[in-house]
Amino acid sequence: MRKNLVIAIDGYSSCGKSTLAKALAKKLGFIYIDSGAMYRAVTLYFIRNNVDIHNNEAVKDALQHIELNFHSRDYQSHITLNGEEVSEEIRLMPVSENVSAVAANKLVRHEMVRQQQRMGKSKNIVMDGRDIGTTVFEDAQVKLFMTADPKLRAERRFKEMQEKGDTSTTLEEVFENIAHRDYADTTREESPLVRAEDAIILDNTAISESEQLEFALEKVKPFLP
Ligand code: CDP
Repeated sequence: MRKNLVIAIDGYSSCGKSTLAKALAKKLGFIYIDSGAMYRAVTLYFIRNNVDIHNNEAVKDALQHIELNFHSRDYQSHITLNGEEVSEEIRLMPVSENVSAVAANKLVRHEMVRQQQRMGKSKNIVMDGRDIGTTVFEDAQVKLFMTADPKLRAERRFKEMQEKGDTSTTLEEVFENIAHRDYADTTREESPLVRAEDAIILDNTAISESEQLEFALEKVKPFLP
């Protein structure tokens, strides 16, 4: 039985995993790790350096030249790629369009999982992603599996992008991208997105952010000292 507490939050694209994970981390004083940001940063490197995802030698070589680091400010996670702050750029469409193909690569996954497991070895953490409860931390004390209506997810993400000043993408494009990633993530061979048997389902289609936080805190409570 692990001594540090791990809260694993998995689920579909854009269903509010990071909002809940950040709120939980803040409330509990845990470290928040956005595993999706890691796959996105690797994707950005691959795009910039024309790395062919189907060429395993090229992928292996590229992975050796990638260093990712998180800098937590106010429970907002910031990620650097070889020392460069890329938190904004990894949310743009070129990365969103390619990330699921990169995340399906076995070599990429093995390296990311290795780094994620190291980050959660001894500290109390909240990690969100697609395979946290099934692969990265099968022994996490609390596992949540989030879902929400796909149309609502697209609207939420679209609004978020507009608020950030990213007006280059239409609502339809966001919807298509979410549908594409859901399909790719659930059907890939290597640790596909699937609910862990012991994960609690949280559908936030009709509940508020504070209600979902309340729900999650109830599940964590029994494990707190
Ligand atoms: O925030 P959003 O729901 O848009 O996605 P994300 O968490 O930033 O993850 C981006 C992509 O990375 C996903 O669509 C997956 O293809 C991949 N991913 C993954 O395969 N495994 C994880 N643990 C996290 C993300």
